[in-house]
Formats: sequence, structure tokens, C-alpha cells
Amino acid sequence: MCLRCDPPDLSSVGSDDHARFFRTVGGRRCNTLNGRYMMPADDEELKRFELFHRMIQFVLGNKNYVGPVEEILSPSRAKGKDKLRVLDLGTGGGLWAIDMADEFPHVDVTGVDLAPLQPRMVPRNCTFELCDLDCACLPYPSNSYDVVHARNMHSGIHDHPQFLHELTRILRPGGLLILIEFDLRPIADGKFTSIPAKSGIPGWCALADELQRCLTLRGVDVTVPERMGELVHKLGWYDRVLQQHADIPVGFWPKDPTLLTVGQLAWMNQDLLVLAIRPLLLSSGIPEKRVKMLIEAAQRDLYYPLVHIASRLHVVHAIKSM
Ligand SMILES: C[S@@+](CC[C@H](N)C(=O)[O-])C[C@H]1O[C@@H](n2cnc3c(N)ncnc32)[C@H](O)[C@@H]1O
Repeated sequence: MCLRCDPPDLSSVGSDDHARFFRTVGGRRCNTLNGRYMMPADDEELKRFELFHRMIQFVLGNKNYVGPVEEILSPSRAKGKDKLRVLDLGTGGGLWAIDMADEFPHVDVTGVDLAPLQPRMVPRNCTFELCDLDCACLPYPSNSYDVVHARNMHSGIHDHPQFLHELTRILRPGGLLILIEFDLRPIADGKFTSIPAKSGIPGWCALADELQRCLTLRGVDVTVPERMGELVHKLGWYDRVLQQHADIPVGFWPKDPTLLTVGQLAWMNQDLLVLAIRPLLLSSGIPEKRVKMLIEAAQRDLYYPLVHIASRLHVVHAIKSM
């Protein structure tokens, strides 16, 4: 389903439209456009998006992107062609799109999401649209965007190779693709945990396992984050594909002040994430009592960790061949 083809006026989304865009699952408000994506679309989740956005800025050295964005979006590149354009897929609260619109006022920035969660007061060069991007063909023309950015939204897409094919189709030759996703496997004391019972964070691992199992049941490939670079490379349309990763501390254990700030933001993000996956667990048929147990055990490990918890962030950037 795509509301881009039949767009509602988002400046006037009122209580009558509420049922059209939102439903309640397990006490949280979720989107109605895509039944596979069962993460909430409510104020608590917006708080989490903001923490995530600030954390990634720290990780990227107070920036919102990787790769030659300034060069690609330089005003001199706009001469003699259409306006420069940026597309943010799964924009959430729209903070990345708004920051980009502020930083590049000569560029049109569009954020797309399943739910109207974005603020109304935005820079003039920033717009938001509703669309389920988990579809065979994205409703955007070929070769029309200079930068395409998709961050932390892979669990809303079930055919990732097709999704990446579509992102490449809509990217202009010479344009930049940026993909940022977290690995769903937890890290304890610097290693992916292979034996949860011996990991020092069994509750944390059990919840991560259930999350991966529920997503897999819904047709989501949970190995995509670690393989994004390879999948992009396989498309054969890029000159250069670079995949990097960083292990992000979760908690208050780093000694380095910047890493400590990242760890604190990551901890706050995970504290909200543990509760945010409740609708997904319940709608996957896990009984309420077990969901409560899983969440409480994960919270115990988060609040009283016996090991250093981390999660791996994968960052890909690639330039489409001319
Ligand atoms: C975890 S949030 C990330 C928000 C933002 N990209 C960020 O990094 O801060 C994931 C967002 O992707 C959106 N999303 C997930 N699947 C989607 C789909 N199939 N089509 C459109 N948006 C989707 C969700 O609605 C949610 O707002």
C-alpha cells in the first residue's frame, strides 16, 4: 500500500485520521500501513529515535553522514540540472532529514515513513511523505536522487536485494547511497556471544534471540546488516562500495569521554528498545507471561551487567557508476 500515490494532507492529520494511520498493539501505538513492521510509532519511540540520532552523530564525528556528501551536494553541482535531491527512507521522527535540509538549504530533502510522526514546522526545503517502502517498485522516478539514505529500518523490508535494486534505480549516476544498520547479535566483552548461558548476559541474549526469531518468522533476513556491502556490490552498478563497522558500547563502562557519551546514549536507546519490541513479540504469538519474563531478564542484564555489552554498527556507502 502506498499513500504517496494518494497523499493525505499531513499538515491536517487529526483525530479522525488517527485510526487510518495507527492501531494499538500490546499497549503501544503502531502503524497501519505495514503489518509486518511491529515496532511502535508513538511518543516513546520518537524519544528513542532522537537518542539514536544523537548517538550516530557522535559516532560519525558530529556529522550526519559518511562519504563525499558535501561534494555531491555542492551548489556548483546543481548548475544546469534539476535541483539536488536527498531521500531519507524510514525517516522516523525526521531528524536526519531536517538536519540535512538545514545544512544544505539549496537541496530538496524528502523523508518517507510508514507513519506521520514528523514535526509540522520544518525547513522549507524539507518534506515528508507516507509510503510503505516494502514493495517491488518504489514510487520514485529513476535517476532522480543525489543521496539516498536508509538508516536503522531493515526490519521493515522483507526483500532486501529488491529494495537495494530500487534504491539504486532511483539514485542518479554519481549519486551516493548510505546504509546504516545495527547487527542484531549482542556482543559481550568484545565478542559475539556464542553460548548465552556463559555470556554473563543470558537475559539480554535470550531477548536478542527472540527478536531475531520473530523477525525471521515475518520474512526479514536478520543477516542483512553484516552483508549490506556485499549485496550492494552484487548489483554491479557501483564503482566503489565501502562497508565499515564499529562496536558501540552499551552502558557506562568506557573510560574515553566520547565513547562514554556514546555508551550512555546507546544504553538509553536499548532501555527503550527492550520495551518497544513488546508488540512484535506478542503479535508473533509469544504468551504475555513469557514476554514479561523475557523483558525483565533483559532489563536485569542492562541494569546490572556482569560484562561489557556492545552492539555492532554497520555503515555502507557506495557511489553509483556514471
Ligand atoms: C528505528 S526507526 C529509524 C528512524 C530513522 N531512520 C533513524 O535512523 O533515526 C525505523 C523507521 O523506519 C520506518 N519503516 C520501517 N519499515 C518501513 C517501510 N517498509 N516503509 C517505510 N518506512 C518504514 C519505521 O516506521 C520507523 O519510523
